[in-house]
Amino acid sequence: MNRLEGKRVVITGAGSGIGRASAQRMAREGAAVLVVGRSAGNTEETVALVRAEGGRAAAMVADATAEASVEAMVARCVKEFGGLDVFFANAATPGTNTPLLEQSVDEWNDVWRVNTISCFLAVKHAGRHMTQQGSGSIILTSSAASLRANAGAVSYSASKAAVNSLVQTAANAFTGTGVRVNAILPGLVETQMTRKVFEQARERGVEARIGHMTPMKRAGRPEEIAAMAALLASDDSSFVTGQWYAVDGGVSSTHPHGRIAL
Ligand SMILES: NC(=O)c1ccc[n+]([C@@H]2O[C@H](COP(=O)([O-])OP(=O)(O)OC[C@H]3O[C@@H](n4cnc5c(N)ncnc54)[C@H](O)[C@@H]3O)[C@@H](O)[C@H]2O)c1
Repeated sequence: MNRLEGKRVVITGAGSGIGRASAQRMAREGAAVLVVGRSAGNTEETVALVRAEGGRAAAMVADATAEASVEAMVARCVKEFGGLDVFFANAATPGTNTPLLEQSVDEWNDVWRVNTISCFLAVKHAGRHMTQQGSGSIILTSSAASLRANAGAVSYSASKAAVNSLVQTAANAFTGTGVRVNAILPGLVETQMTRKVFEQARERGVEARIGHMTPMKRAGRPEEIAAMAALLASDDSSFVTGQWYAVDGGVSSTHPHGRIAL
């Protein structure tokens, strides 16, 4: 499938997990991908995986929360691939599990700085380029934790709810420009960020219970989030903006208890 042929894409947090799977998926569909991460080893590894399948990618080590770095990502993508069509702002931090009443302002700020400023800067700098160009797709990774409690730290949930709001305000700020802004809200997916949850469940022999409250009765895979990212990157979503898409096995559709048997 060459749905993304000719698209020039930046993905942050692409040295692992959902970002890496998205780089592979988008490259497989024909995109050229700038793989942005914090460590050279991880980003190079993603690029090698893409190239091993015949895809086009380049690595960049940069901080998604630093304005000059985000400007540089846009410039590098334009220089390397000749333009920028898609910016997938996917980097984030889960924060700490410090109880709410003991949470410090510094801990709170750390999570908000990474999770909201990275998205704000993506919208600002990709948006600046794309509005001049008259087209583009900006995708932000939010979380099912933005919708309900108990799927992450308090600061994390609140920061992702801010990302949801940014999607709506940015999509409207770009009215008439041809630039789309949407969010993906993953449910629980095994990545570096959630590894501990899975490892602990395996150690306790309760792995099968992971995701058992969701209609799909399982956790997600990075590739399943990447599939939604590829859709939002493509022209198949050309009339879609200002929206949030939960890719969570249906968990955000349910109350926690009381499933009615068929
Ligand atoms: N895994 C899940 O269950 C889950 C659920 C909901 C949402 N998410 C979201 O999915 C996205 C991807 O996370 P993941 O699950 O693939 O975990 P991950 O830890 O594999 O990926 C996150 C990446 O972001 C990078 N990163 C963090 N801060 C950065 C910064 N300042 N600059 C550049 N890169 C930075 C990390 O190095 C890491 O590679 C995140 O936005 C996360 O909040 C994940």
